[in-house]
Amino acid sequence: MAASGDKNCINFLRQVLPDLNLRWEGYRKVRRQVCRRIRKRIHVLKLESFEAYRIYLKNHSREREVLDGMMHISISRFFRDTHSWDLLGEILLPALAQRAALENRPLRCWSAGCASGEEPYSLALLWKHKLSEVFSQLPLQIIATDANELMLQRAQRACYSRGSLKHMPVNWLNESFLKQGEEYFLNTSIRNRVSFHRQDIRKEMPEGQFDLVFCKNLVGMYFEKPLAIEVFAKIVSRMHSGSYLLLGNHEPFPLEEVPDIVVFNKGLQVYQKKTT
Ligand SMILES: C[S@@+](CC[C@H](N)C(=O)[O-])C[C@H]1O[C@@H](n2cnc3c(N)ncnc32)[C@H](O)[C@@H]1O
Repeated sequence: MAASGDKNCINFLRQVLPDLNLRWEGYRKVRRQVCRRIRKRIHVLKLESFEAYRIYLKNHSREREVLDGMMHISISRFFRDTHSWDLLGEILLPALAQRAALENRPLRCWSAGCASGEEPYSLALLWKHKLSEVFSQLPLQIIATDANELMLQRAQRACYSRGSLKHMPVNWLNESFLKQGEEYFLNTSIRNRVSFHRQDIRKEMPEGQFDLVFCKNLVGMYFEKPLAIEVFAKIVSRMHSGSYLLLGNHEPFPLEEVPDIVVFNKGLQVYQKKTT
């Protein structure tokens, strides 16, 4: 199997990704990781080749779900894309918080595809250190969703390696994490600020309207365009007018097909829902 090299796996991916409505280009950098997982699965099933696995997939409809799960890429870190976090802390969040306070409602944020919690916890930390004093009366709700149960369990454990914390200001790190051996445990007070839910974004989304949505390195990156359009349109329908959507670097957004939103900052991949 190893001798057949990456080529067979790449051919296999080219065939199955469209069936799963997933985007070949999105997997370019991570296909080795995906191929390793599929090889392991082929080994567990005692099959001989990618071709045998393709036939197995045809004859076992539930295997499609297993393959879909193997396509989840969960790379993340705290304060990933640091400049967009600066913009959030300095400009976007204070403005959104002010508006929510004026409208006498909570500030609602959603991290879609939250992996092991790095993104929603970054937001909770930013709030604590930059905004919580000024907006002490404003309730903040952070909802985080992911399709992968293992990722959500890790998020709830909230224990990280130093590598994923490299963009964190040192005083925030010292104040909010407890170091045990090589691992850093996040304080309960920050953990309790985030509510995690298992949801497949293709099928369901959290209830209510949001002021801020993170959908980084998921829909635009991995979903084929028709599916991305459908999911982005639903996300935008869940946003208050004037609210913000943050995507990952280099992720395409189908602006022509999802017309209720405009580019707010192209370089930082920040989009704003049109005000009505
Ligand atoms: C690359 S990570 C992105 C993590 C974080 N948003 C970031 O940018 O650092 C993508 C996450 O999306 C999750 N995911 C993949 N497909 C999904 C789906 N259909 N619905 C919800 N989450 C999904 C994966 O499990 C993974 O944790």
